[in-house]
Amino acid sequence: MSLSESQLEFEALLDYLKQNCSYDLTGYKHGTLMRRLRCRMQQLEIENYGNYLQYLQNHPDECGPLLNTILINYSGFFRDRDCWDYLANKIIPQIIASKHPDERIRVWSAGCASGQEVYTLVMLLAEALGIEQYLQRVQIFATDVDEDAVVEARRASYSDKDVTDIPSGLLSKYFQQIEQRYVFHFKLRRTIIFGHHDLAKNAPMSKIDLLVCRNVLIYFKTETQAKTLVRFHIALTSKGFLFLGNAESLSNDRQIFTPISLKHRIFAKGQNLTLQEHLLLRPQTLSKKADPLTTQIHMWKAAFETSPFAQLVVDRSGRLLLANEQAYALFGLKNSDIGARVQDLQMGRLINSSTFINQLNCDTHKLKPPADRHSLSHKNREWVTDNGTTYLDIHITPILDPSGKLLGTNFTFVDVTRNVWLKDEIERLNSALAKVTQELKQTKEVLDSTNKKFESSQKELESVHQELEFRSHS
Ligand SMILES: C[S@@+](CC[C@H](N)C(=O)[O-])C[C@H]1O[C@@H](n2cnc3c(N)ncnc32)[C@H](O)[C@@H]1O
Repeated sequence: MSLSESQLEFEALLDYLKQNCSYDLTGYKHGTLMRRLRCRMQQLEIENYGNYLQYLQNHPDECGPLLNTILINYSGFFRDRDCWDYLANKIIPQIIASKHPDERIRVWSAGCASGQEVYTLVMLLAEALGIEQYLQRVQIFATDVDEDAVVEARRASYSDKDVTDIPSGLLSKYFQQIEQRYVFHFKLRRTIIFGHHDLAKNAPMSKIDLLVCRNVLIYFKTETQAKTLVRFHIALTSKGFLFLGNAESLSNDRQIFTPISLKHRIFAKGQNLTLQEHLLLRPQTLSKKADPLTTQIHMWKAAFETSPFAQLVVDRSGRLLLANEQAYALFGLKNSDIGARVQDLQMGRLINSSTFINQLNCDTHKLKPPADRHSLSHKNREWVTDNGTTYLDIHITPILDPSGKLLGTNFTFVDVTRNVWLKDEIERLNSALAKVTQELKQTKEVLDSTNKKFESSQKELESVHQELEFRSHS
């Protein structure tokens, strides 16, 4: 078989995976992909990509093992120890110092594999802040394109061999030994939101103070790396830091990231993005002459995807139609959840479709669009998961066609946990203040009566004086 024939078969294989397994591997370095594919093909004794494609078509379950071979999940606690020491000694203190004592610290472990990296981060942050402060202030996102890896990471259970690089003091403080396994403390795990996220495709998280993406970019082609770095730039706050893997370098000519320590692969957010850099994120179809409708649809999609709030669209029968990245992270959604009935998903506990959607359905019967279009709001809804308790304001808006018929419903979730905490704190302070005021009032009353007694004693004393004086003159 000629080289170009083999190349064509390889491209057809990538195309098949993109269309049928929802995995777009076109942004990965072809050399690495081919090596890993051949590895899998050898296990199955298949000689060329064409035959392997046929095998894939006949065995749809093959997508799983193939992706496990391609997406190398290798990870470790405190991997490249000196880099983590530098992060703990130089960078984490800077992040803490740049914040108000009650301000949130947001961290993203992107490409977290089976979780060792994110739990290393938790230990270092908890050591720097103290556990109470850590629990109140830190929010961590841990994402990976490999859903099996995310499940492993969420489980947080490791073998003897896995934990050998954890200093013994930290191991006993942060892990519980359950039978033969070491399980990361549940209470601290609650601060982590785990989710599926494809760095080469999905919109980034936002307002991140520390973005850790180690040993992932190395598998991407230069162009995919450049796009991912633009997304990272968007994700970070102006004082945010990026922490890469030892074998990774930034090849950007313009410094959208400024090296803080090249040796430890730590960078600060650098110059602002240019329009060209922003345009890198456009889907390729738009670089051809796009018609206005396609452009408009793209704009809507981008606005939905990049919204800082979690958003869902549910169809009239209560099935989940769309979810943006924030919603994937908040509700731990998987791609396979799209199309499922909301009430069968975990989030069904929160947006009980039979209440909200029916309420909206009833209301929209009376609507005459677009002027009468209105939304419902539910404040401070409690959302309890293994990762902790979040308070959400839910805004529910009907999506109507031009004739006013209900097509579906848009749910927007605004995280108000911090407000709820502050309100509780204010109530606590107010009641402490009322107590102090009451005590002050009582003290003042005692003081007033003592004053009065003192004044009357003084008057008595004065009259004794006068009498004595009178007697001495008489
Ligand atoms: C070698 S592991 C690195 C794990 C960890 N960051 C560390 O350094 O210990 C690479 C991880 O990147 C993930 N990955 C590969 N492509 C990705 C993508 N497009 N988006 C998100 N994660 C990806 C893989 O699934 C894998 O878990």
